[in-house]
Amino acid sequence: MCGIVGYIGHEPAAPVLLDGLRRLEYRGYDSAGVAVPGAEAIEIVRAVGKLRNLETALAARPLSGTVGIGHTRWATHGRPSEVNAHPHVSGPIAVVHNGIIENHGALRKELIERGVTISSDTDTELVAHLVHEAVRQGRNLEAAVRAALGRLHGAYALAVLSHDEPRRIVVAKNASPLVLGLGTDRGDGPDAVYCASDIPALLPYTRQMLFLEDGEMAVLSDEGATITTVAGEPVTRAPQRIDWSPIMAEKAGFKHFMLKEIFEQPRAMEDTLRGRLDRTRGEVVGAEIGLEGSDVSRVARVVLLACGTSHHAAIAGRYWLEELTGLPAVVELASEFRGRRPVIGDGDLVVAVSQSGETLDTLVAAKEAKARGARVLSIANVIGSALPRMSDAVFYTRAGPEIGVASTKAFTTQLAALVMLAIWLGRQRGHLTEARAAALVEGLARLPNQMQEVLHGTRQLIANLARRQVEARDVLFLGRGLSFPIALEGALKLKEVSYVHAEGYAAGEMKHGPIALIDPHVPVLVLLPKDENYERSLSNLEEAKAREAIVIAIATEGDDAARDASETLIEVPAVDPELTPFLTVLPLQLYAYYVADFKGTDVDQPRNLAKTVTVE
Ligand code: F6R
Repeated sequence: MCGIVGYIGHEPAAPVLLDGLRRLEYRGYDSAGVAVPGAEAIEIVRAVGKLRNLETALAARPLSGTVGIGHTRWATHGRPSEVNAHPHVSGPIAVVHNGIIENHGALRKELIERGVTISSDTDTELVAHLVHEAVRQGRNLEAAVRAALGRLHGAYALAVLSHDEPRRIVVAKNASPLVLGLGTDRGDGPDAVYCASDIPALLPYTRQMLFLEDGEMAVLSDEGATITTVAGEPVTRAPQRIDWSPIMAEKAGFKHFMLKEIFEQPRAMEDTLRGRLDRTRGEVVGAEIGLEGSDVSRVARVVLLACGTSHHAAIAGRYWLEELTGLPAVVELASEFRGRRPVIGDGDLVVAVSQSGETLDTLVAAKEAKARGARVLSIANVIGSALPRMSDAVFYTRAGPEIGVASTKAFTTQLAALVMLAIWLGRQRGHLTEARAAALVEGLARLPNQMQEVLHGTRQLIANLARRQVEARDVLFLGRGLSFPIALEGALKLKEVSYVHAEGYAAGEMKHGPIALIDPHVPVLVLLPKDENYERSLSNLEEAKAREAIVIAIATEGDDAARDASETLIEVPAVDPELTPFLTVLPLQLYAYYVADFKGTDVDQPRNLAKTVTVE
């Protein structure tokens, strides 16, 4: 997992590259580097650790020039070190790369046999040598990159510079994201051309963006970007305007992106719902979901595929789909689905859920399902990412860029997309009554305000609670029904950002084992909204209390039984029982955030984690 960036323009390249890398730091942050074509040779500056180390190195050794490439790394081959940091250089060639070259072993052996000296442990350096060899055989940079690509198996987004063609960058993509940006048109070409792993890196510079597809490459020059397939066929593609404002990608006054993104949820939810609810008719607008016009009567089962937090959203999606459509629905961890010979085919609608749209396991699982005849609908946040591109239909969540590694607003907007899908499908199938659909549509429309209320109303209480529990070694989260995936999500959030051991359990499973963990030092957070599981969950809360756990209830406003039974009560407004997850997850996100903040962890970039997992 890494972030790459490239620039050709008329401003000094290094600050533009550094700025782009800063916005990509969520993709990796164990080392970073930049390269520019210098007067005599390619010049590189690299540093281990976070970007500020590269900044310091560049201050000590400034790079001049108006063309360059940069990289922020999350190690896959070779430990984090300066020699393994990108860019990698071979003669006049410099390369930055995100992805994994699967046949690196064979290529390394072959290059060594040809007498090439390899200085790093990376797969990327091999690409630099392959391109260099092709240049030495008389090819120009574009042809040399094309020749090298012919030797690579695996995932890559590559940007390649040559000292011999100093105003060109050749980029290529397969299974790793890459976006191109075009600056203001000057008549004879744009004033600058950019490439990056993700949209936020380019937002301050341009809104005109082009998305490369797998198996494509492009030559960036002062004239613009010329796209071809790796095989050499020309590709015509108009740029798309991306309306995310740069400010949306900043912290907007919050201490961390995670907190900013938690508080952005009411707005994100509004964006997700906008134009998709017809409140007059009490309907979800089918045209927005991506399935309208398709023959949904052929759907016999829904298979939800996802990883991590998106998988938790998918579990909630299964409840909604079964309840509101009457269709059988199953949820699969994409990584496990891939490992089997799944029985899936024609009558299956696969719903692949992914914030980034680039999670390799989800992508491969969805492709596998499609190859077996299933129809794929993706629920994704990142426009033009790989998953939507391979899908038969797409439903974008519109959460905006999520920079914090721990997913928050992406989760609640995924929930919104899934419940809208279930309502629409339920109506199409005649399973859901008009009146019930209308009630849910009304309930959804009210959520942004209620989410705002919960966030502002519980923030201080939860911060105080977190301060008291900052030393807790184990924390349990319990929930039933729709609250079960929320318990899982609460535990995952806490683990990720605070490094505290946490478990999310189906409350009914407590007595089958986990209850043994409970002692007076263990906080137990019980999700207790007023729904059909309320009484049984309250009993589970009592069981935890009887074992002297520190019991925290997340319950509906005015629930006196929950108040009496818990040490701390966190209240959320009453909503339709189908919609409780939208509100009950918010206190859990805040809890994870504040425990982490009091512990002083790196909240936005927790250790060992990366935002988008494009490796297996
Ligand atoms: C947790 C988190 C991860 C992601 C997972 C899937 O906070 O962010 O668990 O949910 O890596 O990522 P996407 O949704 O991009 O497929």
